[in-house]
Amino acid sequence: MYEKIKLPYQFDELSSYISKETLENHYNLLYEGYVNNFNKVLQDLENARLTNNYDNIKALEKDLAFQGGGAILHTMYFENLTPQKTNISQSLKRKIEEDFGGINEFREQFIKSTSKIEGSGWGILGYNKSLNKLIILQVEKHSNLSIWDFIPLLVIDIWEHAYYLDYQTKKEEYLNKTMDIINWDVVSKRFNER
Ligand SMILES: [Fe+2]
Repeated sequence: MYEKIKLPYQFDELSSYISKETLENHYNLLYEGYVNNFNKVLQDLENARLTNNYDNIKALEKDLAFQGGGAILHTMYFENLTPQKTNISQSLKRKIEEDFGGINEFREQFIKSTSKIEGSGWGILGYNKSLNKLIILQVEKHSNLSIWDFIPLLVIDIWEHAYYLDYQTKKEEYLNKTMDIINWDVVSKRFNER
């Protein structure tokens, strides 16, 4: 069973950046739905194995990637935001400087890249083991345009439900504001444990 995390802050604690209403719907309805559907598809796959009935395998595998991606990325997103001031670790800071030229350059590329995703999706900073490099990915929906051997570190939800009520079509403004509430303790920890 995949379980949703407890939100590490109150619904109104990010309200200068993301409204209580947006966050409440996002966490209570959307996230809950992905977690439930993810568990359902895991159960359906188990049933398919037990009965040796793979008639729906194509749809199940597709749903596994979609619901699983939705559940896991939402966990990471809620976890990597915070109302507190946090600090980036020295090792992650050095790696960002090495791979992007600096924190500001990273931020600029991350915002530009994420705001240009076609339709719904996620902006993701991650670590690619083969390259030993931090890279930014645009992920469409929850599961398209991914790459193997990649460890996500920082994720931003750019589906309309995450920002539209507060920012309408101003995606860059949502991203700029959200980059100010990143929990760098969490992101640095993910980097250290890569
Ligand atoms: Fe979302």
